[in-house]
Amino acid sequence: MKSYLIAGNWKSNKTRSEAKDWLREFKIQQSTRINTDSSTVILCAPYTLLCFLNDEIRKRSFSLMLGAQDVSPYDNGAYTGAVNAKQIKEFAEWVIIGHSERRKFFGESDTVLFQKVEQAKVAGLRIIYCVSDEHTAIPDVDVVAYEPVWAIGTGKADTPENANTVIAAIKRKTQIQTVIYGGSVKLDNAASYLFQPDIDGVLLGGASLDAHAFAALLELIH
Ligand code: PGA
Repeated sequence: MKSYLIAGNWKSNKTRSEAKDWLREFKIQQSTRINTDSSTVILCAPYTLLCFLNDEIRKRSFSLMLGAQDVSPYDNGAYTGAVNAKQIKEFAEWVIIGHSERRKFFGESDTVLFQKVEQAKVAGLRIIYCVSDEHTAIPDVDVVAYEPVWAIGTGKADTPENANTVIAAIKRKTQIQTVIYGGSVKLDNAASYLFQPDIDGVLLGGASLDAHAFAALLELIH
């Protein structure tokens, strides 16, 4: 059976009490349904929630892993406002690097992103590296997410067939084995991506904010 990776990216959303509500609802929905042999489920939350979520996941045995949405390109030191990879590793296993919103709104270049990848690797974080097409520079990472910029948060997803073609090209180019699709994936179209031969999972933005929708989507790979 194919092994899937499903990641939710909360972006700059949710306070602690909202995260608590999300977990409560998720717990009711998913109970024991996630098959962790056949899937990896990662929740990428704001830094401010990682400690709280880590505690809750451990206490209540959720089948969820945690990720950050960004990491400092530097080690610890005098870098005001930055959160470094070692700090993230205390609470999370994963980190997203190179999301198109980081590239667009924070001006992150390939050079900075490659520095982040190095920092994350040294700290032992696993990396989901986002690219908008197969021509983007891709470092050696655990997972690549193909996310066309025009599909993110727009409701206009790439077709499953084209996403599969791009993902197959990324796999040929990089030898990276796990490549997922992101960009306007919702409960009603997720299965069409997961059934493509080269697509190993999905990265969800908006659809991950609602625990009900997120849990329902996980049932597709149950
Ligand atoms: P979206 O976001 O699912 O809301 O389109 C995807 C992403 O930004 O990773």
